[in-house]
This record gives sequence, structure tokens and C-alpha cells, in this order.
Amino acid sequence: MKSYQSILFALVFVLPVCAQKKAPRTAIKPKAEFVSELMAKMTVDEKIYQTVQFTSDGTVTGPKTGDNFITRIQQGKVGSILNATGAKATREIQRINLESSRLKIPILFGHDVIHGYKTIFPINLGMASSFDPKAVELAARIAATEASSGGVHWTFAPMVDIARDPRWSRVSEGSGEDTYLGSQLAVANVKGFQGDDLSKINTILACTKHFAAYGAAEAGRDYNTVDMSERVLRDIYLPPFKATVDAGVKTFMVSFNEISGVPSTASKFLMRDVLKGEWKFDGMVVSDYTGINEMIAHGFAKDEQDAAQLAMNAGLDMDMVGATYMNTLKKSYDEGKVSIEVINDACKRILELKYDLGLFEDPYRYSDEKREKETIYKPEFLQAAVDVANKSMVLLKNNNTVLPLKKEQKIAFVGPFVNDEYNIIGSWAALGERDGFATSIKEGITKFLGNTANVTFDEGVEIQSTKRDLMQKAIDNAKKADVIVAVMGERENMTGEAASQTNIDLPGIQKEFLAELKKLGKPIVLVLFNGRPLTLTWENENMDAILEAWFPGSRGGDAVAQTLFGQNNPSGKLPITFPRNVGQVPIYYNHKNTGRPYLGLSDPEQKYKSRYTDVDNSPLFAFGYGLSYTTFSYSNLRVSSAKIKFNQKLKVTVDVANTGNYDGAEVVQLYIKDVVGSVTRPVRELKGFERVELKKGEKKTVTFEISSEDLKFYNIDMNNVAEAGDFEVFIGGSSNAELKEKFELVD
Ligand code: NOJ
Repeated sequence: MKSYQSILFALVFVLPVCAQKKAPRTAIKPKAEFVSELMAKMTVDEKIYQTVQFTSDGTVTGPKTGDNFITRIQQGKVGSILNATGAKATREIQRINLESSRLKIPILFGHDVIHGYKTIFPINLGMASSFDPKAVELAARIAATEASSGGVHWTFAPMVDIARDPRWSRVSEGSGEDTYLGSQLAVANVKGFQGDDLSKINTILACTKHFAAYGAAEAGRDYNTVDMSERVLRDIYLPPFKATVDAGVKTFMVSFNEISGVPSTASKFLMRDVLKGEWKFDGMVVSDYTGINEMIAHGFAKDEQDAAQLAMNAGLDMDMVGATYMNTLKKSYDEGKVSIEVINDACKRILELKYDLGLFEDPYRYSDEKREKETIYKPEFLQAAVDVANKSMVLLKNNNTVLPLKKEQKIAFVGPFVNDEYNIIGSWAALGERDGFATSIKEGITKFLGNTANVTFDEGVEIQSTKRDLMQKAIDNAKKADVIVAVMGERENMTGEAASQTNIDLPGIQKEFLAELKKLGKPIVLVLFNGRPLTLTWENENMDAILEAWFPGSRGGDAVAQTLFGQNNPSGKLPITFPRNVGQVPIYYNHKNTGRPYLGLSDPEQKYKSRYTDVDNSPLFAFGYGLSYTTFSYSNLRVSSAKIKFNQKLKVTVDVANTGNYDGAEVVQLYIKDVVGSVTRPVRELKGFERVELKKGEKKTVTFEISSEDLKFYNIDMNNVAEAGDFEVFIGGSSNAELKEKFELVD
């Protein structure tokens, strides 16, 4: 197959360039009228072709299918293209489409803009550590501004899958394990991508994915089977999806997995009953990449025609890459297996989005090279990348205040990431430039310090190989230092799609290298680049400080430098639990109690308890945990009333003081326990958080408002209700928050 670049070269330079002219702006009719008039002119085939999406051969995000997207466009068979980007390229592809299309229906361009387009922000799990919806919204806004200038109309984000298993490599793409945090950040993403008006040229369609429960893949293996109760599905996994519908998201993507025997791709329950029925979603649903075809391997459809009619009838509007709708839907229609009403509904939803984006007025409006040049990498975007990365840093350990470092110290930076400009931006980084553009640790430190006479940089080891030839030089330099900073972790593509692992230790011989460094008797700071929780029990016992930097993005080196030297005081909190070992997985803070809860080593009864005999039940680092260079104290927790009625609000108030030596920010977290329910309830659940900036010595009062809406769950009759009874409320700086109050919900 010809390379993407060469096809583009042909498109851009060889083919006529009449597309440079803008389509004339027409006075356009209101949406309903416009779409229905257009559909009245369309044949059944033309309607079906609107539901067809092909990939360009640009970015590779799935198995190759061999279909040539340009030929398909010339045949007028394509409603949408994914993975084509850039103002010039999309303009040319659109031109070919418009020349071929009888009714001049513009193509919709989609692309995975996951944590930035050119300016890359930290991976999503990192951004979630900020517990800062505004920061997440800003990153999405900038990503949309850049992407839309490159001809992209539609991103396949946010990914809102709840993930409780760090073996699952796609934990990196989401907001972690918590339903409440995940819902808040999902909404922030939608607001950022879609803005307040889709017809503006700097906004793009968001796509909530992967519907549903994709993160619950058995044994953490990507694409694997999911089997769960409807209650868990509705209580834990669906709320972030629902939150985006309420926020006005325009598209949804179904997941690859099956749930309790039915692939999401053909789940009438998910798409027709819940999404389009109960939630009244009026946007469009796309499959995942060849997801329809894959129902044959699932053993759910006998052939492509069967798979396509099952999916379409279940409410799936667009076929991503699989060509099953293109090849078989008309036949199914002729045979009476798919009705015209169902096809009309899918087509209408797609055309409405094209209308919303203003594509019928000007199909080229997003593909503007001048705007693209002016927009990409604006200095303020790159500055935002530093700021968001700073907020994403989670300080996991800091013994003897080894951090922040002092400029006068002799510091040996070691580890495979000290010079890295590739992995630092993380996986699924759209068009983010790596080597030669992203700021490495070395560059960030050098820029920050100005004079680097006191610092050395040595890789010492590689990420995964067992090569030891560089180790000694690094150790020799470390010997001369006051403090060692080891920058270690995973390769970027060890997380993201199809990269699940059973071993989540530091890869290769990195730990062995740390053990050698430990022998030098110097303080060691471990800085981590990773896209999932790692098992860090040994590191926690042997390192003096640990800074979780995730994959911090295009300006990650600056953020790490600013954080290590205290210009940024870390304030991130873990959005996902770090286990002590992989045997504890899945592990999450909002678990149930069991009938024999284990109270830890102080428990007078050690036998016949729900526990492991070889390791404590508790995680190494809990959800919501993260230190600061300063310290915070919580006091005076109070509730506005001992009882509230269903229509009343409860105020929960706490005083938070900065008791340490630095200005800082603390994420104040509120958890609630429903003591007795008609079905068992989690030990506690996050129901509120607020990021509070506190100057050294400053104290602030933080107030949360709770209503019966926040106490709802699917009860024994599968009704989503709050139940009268006793509740406990906890406030603090992590999911282990100890300050506790009580209240009662009364009829
Ligand atoms: C497969 C992935 O599961 C999905 O997240 C992505 O958006 C599509 N491929 C398109 O690249």
C-alpha cells in the first residue's frame, strides 16, 4: 500500500487544487428542515454510505483492512474518515469527496485527540491526578483548538472507562477507578472539546467511549470478557457516560468487549434502551474499530451481514472501518432484516452532526492552513502544558524532606528517561512531536538551573533490556553527588491499547540498578514515568522520595524540574490505587466490607477473616493519596444538621490549615458511607472534592453540600433511589480520611 505521505503528496500537488476556493456560503435552512429535505433526495444506498467510516492510512490505530479509502470516497461510499489530519490533507480529501458525491455531502473527519493534538498534555490518568476539572477542560479546549485548525471535526475522547485493574494497559487513557471523579472529569473534557457552540471553528465533537464496562476486562487482558451485574454496571461504570450525555456530548463509541454474553457492539440494552431511551441521547453512536466484524469471533454473529444487521438494529449508527454496513446493509434492507426507519434514524443523526459543525455551509471551514499555522503550538498552549503537568505530579514519599532539591546541591540524574524526548509525551499522543521537540528531563533541568556545573546525566540502564555496560559510569557519577535522582518507568507503549501485562514491576533491570545506587548510601529520589499503577513495594522501602510524574507531555521536563526544585509544590492525588503486589488486583478503595472484614494487624481475630495471609489487605498507596512539600491539618468537621429530609441539603464543613513551610494546594476530599442498605453498600464513596490553595500558615473553611441525589444507588428493586437511614461522612486528604461525622436521611 502506498504510504500516507505519498498519497497526500499526490493529492496535494498533482491533483487540481480547485479545493483552495471556499464553497460559497449559502443561507441554510433550520436543521430539521434541511436534513429532512436532504434525506428526501437520498437513495437507500446513499443513506447507508453515510454510516460508513474508513481509516486513512495515516495514523495506525487498528489492524489494516486493505480497503483504499480514496477509492471508496471516489465511489461516494464514505460518510466519515478517521486518522486523516492536517488542513491541506483534509481539504484535498474533502475535495475528492465533494467531486464524487452526488449530493455534495461533506465528510466528517475523526481523529484520536486523547491528551492533546500537537501540544501534548500529561496522559489522562496523570491529568486526573490534578483533581482539577478546570485544568482538564483547558487541556481539552486547547486540543480542540489545535485539532480543529488541522481539519479534525471529531475526537474519540473522552475515554471514561472506570479501571480497577492496573494490568489493563488502557488505565492510562482514562481518569482512574472512581465513578464520581471520573464523571466530573468526563464532563470537563466534553466542555473543553465541544465548547459552548459546535458551529464555532475551534470546537469539535467529543465522543464518550467505550460504552460500556471495557475497563472491567477479566484479568486485565485488553478486549477480554466482562461479566457483571446490572447493579454494578449502573452504579459504578455507567455514571460517567450518563454525565456526558447530560453535558451535551454528541457522539458515543461502543466497546469491544461483551457484557454478560452480549457484545456491546450489538447491545440493544446499552444503545436503544439505556442510551437513546432512558438517557434520551440524540447524537450518534459509532462502533470501535472493526468491532462489528469481531462479533463473528465473539460467536455472536454468523457472518458480516448478520453482524451488521444485529448492530444496526441495536442502535449502532456508524461502522468504524469494518465495511460491514457498506457491504451488507442494503441486502439486509432488501431482505426485510433492517427497516428503512432504522437506517433513516442512523443517517439523520450523522447528517445532523455535519449540520451542527457548519459543514453544509462550508465543508472546508476547518481545513484552513493559515489558521493551522497560527494556532499550533501557541506559546500559551505550551505554557498550559507545563501548568497542567505540574498539577499532575503526585508525591508518593518524601523522607527527611529530601525534596525539594536545592540548586547548590551536587545532583546525579540517572535512569533511562534522563535524555528521553520520546516516551515522555506518553502513548496515543496524536500528532505530538517527540524527539527534537519535547522537553526532556535534562533539558528541563538545564533550563531551570542555568548553570549545570553541579549536575550529571547518565542513563545507566535501558528501559527493558538487560544491558549493563552504561551502569558503572552512572554509578561513578552518582558517587560524587549529594543526592541521586533516578528517572525510571515504563516505555510509553507499555500502556495504551493492547499492552496488558501480568507483571507491573519496574521493567528490565531498573530495580537492580536502583539497588546498586542504594549501596552508595546517598539519598535517592525516584521519579516515575508510567501509565499505570506499578508495584513499588521495594522502591517504597528503599527510596527516600518518590515522585509520580506519569507521562507528563510535551513540556514534561520543565514540569519535573520545577517540581523537583520546589518552584511547583506537588498537589496531585492518586486517581487509582497502587497495589502492594499484583496478587491484590483488582483493588479499589470503594470495595464492600464482606461479612468478615479484616481490621489489620490490630484485629484480635486474625483467622477466618477476609484477608490474605501473605500480605496486608491495604494497598501500597491509596486512592486520593498524595503528599506535598508542606503539611495540611484538618479539623472541626461539622454537619449542618443531624438529620435531613429527602428534599433538604446538608452542609458539611471542615477547616483546613497549611501547617508546613511552603505555600501549597490540597485536594480536600469528602467520602460518604451508607451504613445499611437494601443491598450492601461500599465502605465509602467519594462524593465531593475541592482543590484549595493555602499559603504557608493559612487556614480555610471548606464547605460541601450534600443532598439525597448524592446518596442514590440501585436498590434491591433496581430503582435508583436514596434510602432513609444512617450515613457517615469522612473528610481528609485521601480515601483513608479519618475525620468522621454522621447524619441521618429521614422520610
Ligand atoms: C480502537 C480504540 O479502542 C479506540 O479507543 C479508538 O478511538 C479507535 N481504535 C480509533 O482509533
